[in-house]
Amino acid sequence: METVEGCTVWFTGLSGSGKTTISRALEKELRLRGHKVEVLDGDLIRKNLTKDLGFSKEDRDANIRRIGFVAQLLTRNGVIVLVAAISPYRKVREEVRQLIGNFIEVYVNAPLSVCEQRDMKGLYQKARDGKIKHFTGIDDPYEPPLCCEIECRTDQETVEQSVAKVLLTWQQKTRQHRDK
Ligand code: ADX
Repeated sequence: METVEGCTVWFTGLSGSGKTTISRALEKELRLRGHKVEVLDGDLIRKNLTKDLGFSKEDRDANIRRIGFVAQLLTRNGVIVLVAAISPYRKVREEVRQLIGNFIEVYVNAPLSVCEQRDMKGLYQKARDGKIKHFTGIDDPYEPPLCCEIECRTDQETVEQSVAKVLLTWQQKTRQHRDK
């Protein structure tokens, strides 16, 4: 099997935009091809590694820095890391990009109205009812990337199309890296 450089693919976007769905489908695809893959999913990470953190700007930034730290360790050991976290603040996304180096940022973009309609976890309703405060997109900010490698419009494309886009970019990047 050819050896592949480690890389972090960072999915950012609103809750319910499709970060977990795309990253899990991509994970499956990469595993089928024999690659070492790890998914770091915000929902799961917040149950263990960042259990102590809430949703203030400081805590979200700390969450992203911890995830970024783990992603860096894995990336430098040849793992393809798929991060699925809202990561609403541009500055800290830029920080983890610099830290990790081999980094692909994917903006998982569906309009708020679509995410809210999907409301897979019922959290948007709770946020609208005022039962959850500081919910991203409702009463807490989301800063979309100004310049990222990939944008997936999950209200307009299928999961397969999104996965194919990411795979293509990853392959091109891997080739460039190898040819250097
Ligand atoms: S991040 O902002 O720090 O990147 P992260 O992706 O880890 O967030 O966690 C987001 C998940 O936490 C959401 O998918 C949702 O299930 C849950 N959650 C609970 N409270 C909030 C909130 N106030 N804002 C956003 N997500 C929340």
